[in-house]
Amino acid sequence: MDIKAIKKEAEKDIDSAKNLKELDDIFKKYLGKKGEITRILRSLKDLSEKQKKETGMLANKIKKELEINIKEKKYVLQSSDWLASKFQDIFDITVPSKKLLVGHLHPITIVRRKVEEIFQQMGFSVVEGPEVETEWYNFDALNIPKDHPARDAWDTLWLKPESQKLLLRTHTSPVQIRYMEKNQPPLRIIAPDRVFRHEATDASHDVQFYQLEGLMIGKDISAANFVAVIQEFFQRFFNKEIKIRLRPSFFPFTEPSFEMDINCVNCQGKGCSVCKQTGWLETLGAGMVHPEVFKACGYNPKFWQGFAFGVGLDRLAMMKYKINDIRLFYSSDLRFLEQF
Ligand code: DAH
Repeated sequence: MDIKAIKKEAEKDIDSAKNLKELDDIFKKYLGKKGEITRILRSLKDLSEKQKKETGMLANKIKKELEINIKEKKYVLQSSDWLASKFQDIFDITVPSKKLLVGHLHPITIVRRKVEEIFQQMGFSVVEGPEVETEWYNFDALNIPKDHPARDAWDTLWLKPESQKLLLRTHTSPVQIRYMEKNQPPLRIIAPDRVFRHEATDASHDVQFYQLEGLMIGKDISAANFVAVIQEFFQRFFNKEIKIRLRPSFFPFTEPSFEMDINCVNCQGKGCSVCKQTGWLETLGAGMVHPEVFKACGYNPKFWQGFAFGVGLDRLAMMKYKINDIRLFYSSDLRFLEQF
């Protein structure tokens, strides 16, 4: 057989050797006293000078390579033999391994991404602000002056020392102010972010939750634009036709202000336990941005007008997935989380 073919065959044999005994036989077959490579090396003396040199060099090279291959294979077989002997009573190394557990998105994150996608398609930019806020951005600039009773509506977590007047923001509305200070209209933004309240927890309240703030400012942006944008948003979010209604309300930072309801997504407005038989779900607060807010940001309220709104992202997620307790979102309970 041609020496190169012998080499190929030897490599194949080494590769498929299953234990040290088989490997030893392979060594003998090729490199032992009567081995095939040894035989070639021994027969060199019968060849011409030229052939002797060529075949001799090649055979020696292949001999070395096979020796290395066998050594490496020996090492592999020895270590797996060792592993098997060490652990054979503990586990079966031939059993296929378990699939690694991989995490997935939290329902609030799924909803947040969906909301961002819908508003981005309508030309809104997504912006963020700090979770630790100053009194100015969280209250004063939003037309909620010190000692005004409206402040009581936001149960605030103040940070120490109190003299610094720092707090955990109670709503995402301060992001409006921060954005308007640095940018000129026309503008369209949303701020989906975390907020904090100093509140007793129950099925619909938690000390932390997520809000979605929206703001659209231009020369002639009206409440009709708000209705169009928000209705489109809800239809895309719930993937079905949604009716909305506005009711008069009060927020210091909007005038006029309204509360917005959508027809119950559970019973399509017929009346059920989710909507307490009213057919409507209270959904968000909104209004036309107050002139005092524009002034606080350095805008001239005679030139600009627009709408703002705020809605709980948790509330949107609860409506979408029919969840009846907000605390489930923050409980890290896998029985709940694995359903999404
Ligand atoms: N910031 C309000 C809250 O936390 C929600 C809100 C209401 C935001 C009306 C707005 C708005 O931008 O116009 O209750």
